[in-house]
Amino acid sequence: MKKLLPLLLAATLPVLTALAQKFESLALTPPMGFNTWNTFASNLNEVVVMETADTMAKNGMRDAGYNYIVLDDCWSLKERDAAGNLVPDPAKFPNGLKALGDYLHKLGFKFGIYSCAGSKTCGGFPASQGHEYQDARLFASWGVDYLKYDWCNTGTRDPKEAYTTMRDALFAAGRPVVFSICEWGGSKPWEWAKDVGHLWRTTGDITDCYDCVQRWERGWKVILDLQYSLVQPADGQNNGIGQYAGPGHWNDPDMLEVGNAGLTFAESRAHFSLWCMLAAPLMAGNDVRHMTPEILAVMTDREAIAIDQDPAGKEGWRFRAEPGREIWVRELSNGDWAVALLNTGDQPADLSIDFGPMWFLGGTCQIRDIWDKKDTGTTAQPFTKRLASHDVALLRLKPIK
Ligand code: GLA
Repeated sequence: MKKLLPLLLAATLPVLTALAQKFESLALTPPMGFNTWNTFASNLNEVVVMETADTMAKNGMRDAGYNYIVLDDCWSLKERDAAGNLVPDPAKFPNGLKALGDYLHKLGFKFGIYSCAGSKTCGGFPASQGHEYQDARLFASWGVDYLKYDWCNTGTRDPKEAYTTMRDALFAAGRPVVFSICEWGGSKPWEWAKDVGHLWRTTGDITDCYDCVQRWERGWKVILDLQYSLVQPADGQNNGIGQYAGPGHWNDPDMLEVGNAGLTFAESRAHFSLWCMLAAPLMAGNDVRHMTPEILAVMTDREAIAIDQDPAGKEGWRFRAEPGREIWVRELSNGDWAVALLNTGDQPADLSIDFGPMWFLGGTCQIRDIWDKKDTGTTAQPFTKRLASHDVALLRLKPIK
């Protein structure tokens, strides 16, 4: 055996390295899709998921890039079976998850699932601690392409060890899987997770309000501010942890609440715009079967999505924060810049951007107003717009040659 070991290692290492490289290219831009949690919580089932997929295939969301459909917590029975396998709750998924995965794949989607690094998930269902390799093999047998991996009931477990173990289990199972680390930012995953997962949550949970704080849930503006403040900007330009994001590995400020009841239309549109500025994963968290045409138009807007999905993957940063107004900027791959002007006040206001102090722009630029769908002058003049409370102007600046 002693003699065989080096041979065995020599044979398996290249395979694992090749697999690792295959996994690396899975999220070159921030993942997009739908996740059951924000709207359905424990009330998920196969009818909801199939109807959601049918809707997204027809309403343009799939073609706009929302291709991962992810089951969050509460999909399984409360106990593993005699062989130690997780069991989909037959009341919710009577046809099992292989069949659901096949259905999603046929429609052109990828299939995502949820587990947790502790003894139980946050919802009290069996989790993967001590079962990593078995669960990864089971997920692969169902055709799973994406795993969100949570952090409840983990005791004294070390996050880096826990997530690396699951990553290795996914590698060993052999099916390429986007690995979504949901550890809420406590151990600063941006510092260690680049080679472990494709995205990592930076904060606790989002909820559908602008800036409320309830138990461990927060409105999107609070999460935006938290992500900004996590690491103090080294040079005054970068929004803290933005420096850790890039093709293949993303800061995740949590799933979208766009279109949910606690947000005004303006707040939904601004939430979407700012997530695009952050190069955030865009996981829809609304009931897409019953969304308004206006919300659908925001979520499928090609120009906004192009900012989020910009191939250079540089996260935007906050250029100005003043009473009533914030300006965010993001460098894009072709020399363009994205700019978001947010009305943080609680009244409509005429807000302006003076481009003079934006020394980083490559000369005078043409301005495209993305939500108004019009070209609107150049940066030689200040840009002014009347914005509803918590609404945003989303601009794309193109240097004039
Ligand atoms: C945690 C996660 C949420 C969601 C729930 C499910 O709170 O952060 O995104 O997955 O668990 O119980």
